[in-house]
Amino acid sequence: MTPTVDQIRRQFIDFFVTKYAHREIPSASLIPENDPTVLFTTAGMHPLVPFLIGEPHPQGRRLVDAQKCLRTDDIDEVGDSTHLTFFEMMGNWSLGDYFKEETIQMSLELLTTPWEQGGFGLSLDRLSVSCFEGDDDAPRDLESAEIWKKLGIPENRIFFYPKKQNWWGPAGQTGPCGPDTEIFYDVVNVNDPAAHREGGRVTQDRCQPSCDCGRYVEIWNDVFMQYNKKGEGQFEPLAQKNVDTGLGLERMVGILQGKDSPFETELFAPAIDKIFSLTNYDRAQPKAIFASRVIADHLRAATFILGDPCGVSPSNVDQGYIVRRLIRRAIRYARMIDVTENFTDSIAAIYIDLYSSAYPELQHNSERVLDELRREETQFDTTLERGLHELSKMIERKYPSHSGVIKGEDAFSLFETYGFPPEMTAEEGRTLGMDGVDMEGFNEAFKKHQELSRVGAAQKFAGGLADHSEECKMHHTATHLVHQALRDVLGDHVFQKGSNITKERLRFDFSQDEKMTPEQVQQVEEIVNKQIERDLPIHFEIMDVDDAKARGAIGVFDDKYAQLGNKVKIYIMGDYSMEVCGGPHVEHTGVLKHFKILKEEACSRGVRRIKAVVEGIKDLA
Ligand code: ALA
Repeated sequence: MTPTVDQIRRQFIDFFVTKYAHREIPSASLIPENDPTVLFTTAGMHPLVPFLIGEPHPQGRRLVDAQKCLRTDDIDEVGDSTHLTFFEMMGNWSLGDYFKEETIQMSLELLTTPWEQGGFGLSLDRLSVSCFEGDDDAPRDLESAEIWKKLGIPENRIFFYPKKQNWWGPAGQTGPCGPDTEIFYDVVNVNDPAAHREGGRVTQDRCQPSCDCGRYVEIWNDVFMQYNKKGEGQFEPLAQKNVDTGLGLERMVGILQGKDSPFETELFAPAIDKIFSLTNYDRAQPKAIFASRVIADHLRAATFILGDPCGVSPSNVDQGYIVRRLIRRAIRYARMIDVTENFTDSIAAIYIDLYSSAYPELQHNSERVLDELRREETQFDTTLERGLHELSKMIERKYPSHSGVIKGEDAFSLFETYGFPPEMTAEEGRTLGMDGVDMEGFNEAFKKHQELSRVGAAQKFAGGLADHSEECKMHHTATHLVHQALRDVLGDHVFQKGSNITKERLRFDFSQDEKMTPEQVQQVEEIVNKQIERDLPIHFEIMDVDDAKARGAIGVFDDKYAQLGNKVKIYIMGDYSMEVCGGPHVEHTGVLKHFKILKEEACSRGVRRIKAVVEGIKDLA
């Protein structure tokens, strides 16, 4: 029997829950909150960092999970048989509980126990491992090697490597880290340590896990987090020794479903079948194989980004830009193999279905995912052909020798007019002999443009407030009153989408499709003024998420908050408004004197904007 993806994921989690008393925790969002240093969650440990450095986890010291991860470094590599943008990382965690001996024993037990008895049923003969070889910062990990030997891995299949391979911590940064031991699966299995795989052929050559011939597939990484990296070369022992393990689900699915590449497994096969049903290209044509993988990978990643609880829409900044780039690259490759009709939503629908039980948020947000894809595809389609034409004309005109780097400003002009991500211009340019795009020049051109159009102005205000003057505080307090008043008048679908506050006025963006009627605007204004007249006292309280929710505070909560045991700060204005907020505010609403809405207008799709002033401010002067 070939196990399904859902069964394999479940088998991993159940093994740790039932045999070793771990608690299952759900995947955190793909989009990290409160961490401006990265755009996406790139490893299972990312959302758990506070607990690795000592914060007690409400679920205890033994955890197990499947974490949604996304790595953007290799987007342009996708299309071969191994690279993936989105992946699931399975992991078991010890937060100051068990350490090396138990970890290694559990990993090996899960891998080699027959499937029917709750394991993955791999043969011990096919496993090799690597351990940290030691350097000035930390000793050689002989302890792990001894444990492997004791459990039956022969010495000639235990390898020692330096930090580059056998050390793990947040990429290049400070924080919890330590030596790791990695487990490799031998896909050739000729019982010959010298066997080497080359283009599918086994030749006699030197070969070990660090060789990139493809014979050894890394399947699991057990990290022993026992140090805190304070700076370059500064490693101090952590008070609490932790274990962080990572097993890539897609690779395990490949092995257990007997396929060489994840693209041949149940994870991608339905999407790839669908792509081939839309083209006359043959499944054996390398160009079509490559294109189908790009499309299948990128649209899976896009589905997860758009369908995340903190889902973002395609845009020109941050995560929005990555999702736009993925969708557009998928469309470009589809048109290359003559998929002419709109198709992105049909591929996303396949993934939503495939992942519906493991990630119900996709089903829940499916309409949004499909709508965003349709919109992006329609929009990009109108300019794709013209943009490609323009690019080749530009190269003829400006780079007649078909060589050199495309200037930043040229790439920016294609971006602005035709929506070409610079990476796409670079990729297309390469097919015409060019040598990529000057990204620094592109970024400069982009920044100059932003400054000119003042798009970036909002980002200059921390937390939406220009400063902490009394005038700003008054306008800030008014945003809370207006938020609640909008919900009273328009309904509970209204949520704050952004705000921007200066001494002179406030801007408040909120979720709402239709334009407000003049009566609704007047009603909101009247409600706010009534709360000002009532002169409500204002104070804040720090409370548990559950209490905040139970008391009806407005704010975006999800399960993760509660799970992490985070407390939240809630501002309370008399009996009228209660909202998650960092402050600051005035002390009572009467300070505001009078509130007036100047304008109600469209802001972006599904978002309206109010501009308003607090008139009491005049009297302050
Ligand atoms: N954090 C480790 C990794 O990503 C498990 O490989």
